[in-house]
Amino acid sequence: MSAPIRISAQKGELAGCEADVGIVYRFRGDEDVCGPLGAPLAKRLSGVARADHFDGDAGRTLLWHAPGREGERCGRYLILGLGPRNELTLDRYRHYIGEACIQADRLGAASVAIPLLEAGAAPLGSREAGVALAEGVLLGTYRFERYRSQPEAGRRHLRSVTVAAGSVALREVESAIGLGEVCASATNFARDLVNEPAGVMTPERMAAIARDVGAETRIAVRVIEPDELRSMGMGGILGVGQGSRNPPRLIQLNYAPDEGARKKVAFLGKGLTFDSGGLSLKSAEGMETMKCDMAGSAAVLGAMRALPELNPPVEVVGLMGMAENMPDGGAIRPGDVLKIMNGKTVEVRNTDAEGRLVLADLLSYAGSMDGVESMIDLATLTGACMVALGPLASGVMGNDQVLVDDILRAADRAGEKMWPLPLYREYREHLKSEIADVKNTAIRYGGAITAGLFLQEFVRPGLPWAHIDIAGPSFGDKDYSYIRRGASGAGVRTLIHYSLNIE
Ligand code: BES
Ligand code: MN
Ligand code: ZN
Repeated sequence: MSAPIRISAQKGELAGCEADVGIVYRFRGDEDVCGPLGAPLAKRLSGVARADHFDGDAGRTLLWHAPGREGERCGRYLILGLGPRNELTLDRYRHYIGEACIQADRLGAASVAIPLLEAGAAPLGSREAGVALAEGVLLGTYRFERYRSQPEAGRRHLRSVTVAAGSVALREVESAIGLGEVCASATNFARDLVNEPAGVMTPERMAAIARDVGAETRIAVRVIEPDELRSMGMGGILGVGQGSRNPPRLIQLNYAPDEGARKKVAFLGKGLTFDSGGLSLKSAEGMETMKCDMAGSAAVLGAMRALPELNPPVEVVGLMGMAENMPDGGAIRPGDVLKIMNGKTVEVRNTDAEGRLVLADLLSYAGSMDGVESMIDLATLTGACMVALGPLASGVMGNDQVLVDDILRAADRAGEKMWPLPLYREYREHLKSEIADVKNTAIRYGGAITAGLFLQEFVRPGLPWAHIDIAGPSFGDKDYSYIRRGASGAGVRTLIHYSLNIE
């Protein structure tokens, strides 16, 4: 992890900001560039855009070297196309900002100045725009470099970003940037955990990191070790972890606001530090990126680490089910039966359908806690969800439409792609076992849904629950502007926005 980029706000127009690269906006269909720039600079850059027939196509950029004759304070200006004004969304803005910063960084710029997109100049509120700007900068320039012995060509130069506040009060801009920084650093924290190799990021190591988070914030942390898991009856997490030299851990986090909690919710995360498939071994290709299988638990830890700073009026219990799924003489076998904490038994038909076994214990445990009013689990659960929604979107399922809608709304605010999937009751029969209460596999089709139905077996009836399958977006092999390849921190910002907007 490289040092974070410093983002600060400055009164007035872009013309007053000194930086290596100044960024200005151009909407498609407008005559001129826009933003609080200062008239002479606006005129100059509008002329440059016109001369180059740059018409503001979305995401396109035009670089202009300032001759310095007219007192330009930036050495270069990057004109950034925002597309047609009425088509700009918050997430598109985040994308373009991320892209522009990546480009400025590639140009070797250490400092960048950007005007705040003002309300009135765009369909976005200036607060939301300030949040998205900070997120675009910090998410787009994230790199995971700790294992490179040589600084790479793509090394980061960018150190600071100045936001020209224009007509918006400095305090407001600073507070918006602050929220964007908290959300982005929580996301980047989760990305670091997921990008770390599985040989390093064992259940025990995750527990140590969670304890550090507890020491730095007012989040209470409890780590439950195998002996205690046994006495609690957590046969799922123990069974999945029994083939590994790195024994499982259940990590419990508790956040409470200063005062006035309106609700108590639980966030649960699948934390498979590596998923080889177990005895139902994956193919070589299938396990190449399976260090990402703890992304759900990383999202829970990342989001909860941000809560004390934001102080949302909700009590949150976090549960991270950490285990490593390995083939071994001591591993669970296909055909073995495990007993979950709530007393239900599962016939393990495929040891690679392990995440649901761990989550079954977490759901039972959260459901047994005093006062928990709803629970949300996040898991890299099925390849089927990736087949359904592709590499950028998570599937959302649940037993409570209000909760599912709240999550979809939070995801929308956060700029994360989430899409509902149904839990058709008819498919439950595919989970019937000959010898136990349920089995952990179903038929070939509808795998994301049958996995959701399996989880539902362990939800206390009447308790609102939602499941977010993040198998697609948690880890990528391709850059999508500010969403870079490698770990994405999927789910972190949705959980934060959900907490902030709870009724
Ligand atoms: N961790 C995998 C799912 C996964 C696949 C996550 C690709 C991210 C990218 C999960 O444990 C798994 O192996 N699921 C199986 C379930 C099947 C055996 C019923 C799957 O999806 O194939
Ligand atoms: Mn698996
Ligand atoms: Zn898995």
